Amino acid sequence: MKDHIVNDFNGIASVYDALASMVFGKNLIKSQHHFLHVIPDDATVLIVGGGSGELLQTLLQQKPKCQVVYVDASERMIELARQRVQNAARVTFLCGTESVEMPVPAFTVVITNFYLDLFTQQSLPGIITRLRSLLVPGALWLVTDFVKPTKLWQKLLLKSMYLFFRIVSNIEASRISDWQEMLGTAGLSRQAEKTFYHGMIKSIVFGETTSRLHSPEDN
Ligand SMILES: C[S@@+](CC[C@H](N)C(=O)[O-])C[C@H]1O[C@@H](n2cnc3c(N)ncnc32)[C@H](O)[C@@H]1O
Repeated sequence: MKDHIVNDFNGIASVYDALASMVFGKNLIKSQHHFLHVIPDDATVLIVGGGSGELLQTLLQQKPKCQVVYVDASERMIELARQRVQNAARVTFLCGTESVEMPVPAFTVVITNFYLDLFTQQSLPGIITRLRSLLVPGALWLVTDFVKPTKLWQKLLLKSMYLFFRIVSNIEASRISDWQEMLGTAGLSRQAEKTFYHGMIKSIVFGETTSRLHSPEDN
């Protein structure tokens, strides 16, 4: 019997974007584009869980000098993203998880959009630690994701989404974890933020605190 792989988006890859826009209109795209301007022109960007590549295409257009490593666990998503940007030479595509061996030693920017919400309260700290270890001091971490809902309709919508993706993609989590607090605990500071879709989605720019550079342990 075939193992049921966790967080498996292969089966839904071809319809994921259409489904997302049916439910959220342009909000998911708008929220992900909002802070792209803060990325330095010559950045080395890591995108993890990037999906079918809409954001990648926009990033390459807005930042013609940046280099990108694009990691996604789904080979179908990787294929869609590759086709969308016509296999752009500035992008290294890797089918794998955050643990995959990276082709560059460190990144100036990491982008994780609608990715941290896949993981449980228990597993997320390990993922954050891994991604943070790939950043240069002073790097930026851009996150766009769902936040804990306050209104009843938001709670119902999010609950149905988790139920749907648990059935279709066997996602690990069944609720939103405290990703904002965890990034703070990991030593990242909030530099800018904006909410979308009636407060249900947040885009946040976190900064790698340079104090890590001068911590006593480093001496
Ligand atoms: C909810 S989708 C979001 C896709 C995209 N960021 C967007 O907003 O359109 C999550 C994506 O993360 C990928 N994924 C799931 N677990 C992963 C992991 N551990 N490492 C890398 N990618 C992963 C899935 O294959 C999927 O493409």
